[in-house]
Amino acid sequence: MARLHLGVDVGGSSIKAGLVDIDTGALAVDPVSRVTPSPATPQAIANAICALAKQFPGGGRVGVGVPAVVKQGRTWTAANIDAGWIGVDVGALLSKALGRPAAFLNDADAAGLAEMRFGAGRGVPGTVLVLTLGTGIGSAPFIDGRLLPNTEFGHLLLHGASAELHASARVRVEQGLGWQEWGARLTEYLVYMERLFWPDLFILGGGVVEQFDEFAPFLSTRAPVVPAALGNHAGIIGAALAAA
Ligand code: BGC
Repeated sequence: MARLHLGVDVGGSSIKAGLVDIDTGALAVDPVSRVTPSPATPQAIANAICALAKQFPGGGRVGVGVPAVVKQGRTWTAANIDAGWIGVDVGALLSKALGRPAAFLNDADAAGLAEMRFGAGRGVPGTVLVLTLGTGIGSAPFIDGRLLPNTEFGHLLLHGASAELHASARVRVEQGLGWQEWGARLTEYLVYMERLFWPDLFILGGGVVEQFDEFAPFLSTRAPVVPAALGNHAGIIGAALAAA
């Protein structure tokens, strides 16, 4: 019998949830989503997650990827969510609201775990850097398949500010950048990552990779760059894996 757990991906613009077969990485049904509440306080997000989880009744566990550093069940940063998240015991908050245990992890770490288990990084040795391009830039480096969690490479300084303010997918839309211009910015960031970490492979995630073919011609790096094989569902799938 399939082992199904609920994966939730909390993003800057939407919260997505799906029931995942953790042995195959397949989604049992189409994921559901809601607009991220504003302000995105812990309680408002917990309420939204509860509303989504109600659409998947059953005994499975719940895993949640959040755009923050998560250590010992607490969130410690809040770049693209409400500052009220800092120091919160999110596991306790959500387990209470849901009435079932909930596991938390960083959203990019979740996407990375899914890609390494079921997607573009499956069986790839050496240093693999998974980067998620969305409201911010999330990072998940793997060495021979093992994750170094909570790395926050999107906040390394580029042109004097967090790199995500220069090259995230949100910046492309907000500044009306064409694919070539944004591709050049992304290349600048990827080359910066190469200078520091010398990855053997980059895996790019986030909704924008649905248009990978549009910007791939403008990327120029030493290591190969591939789109996330699980697309925008990687975060949901990885969160469910963490729950298990
Ligand atoms: C956050 C990270 C997160 C990334 C992608 C960044 O602004 O600091 O924790 O993984 O955005 O959502």
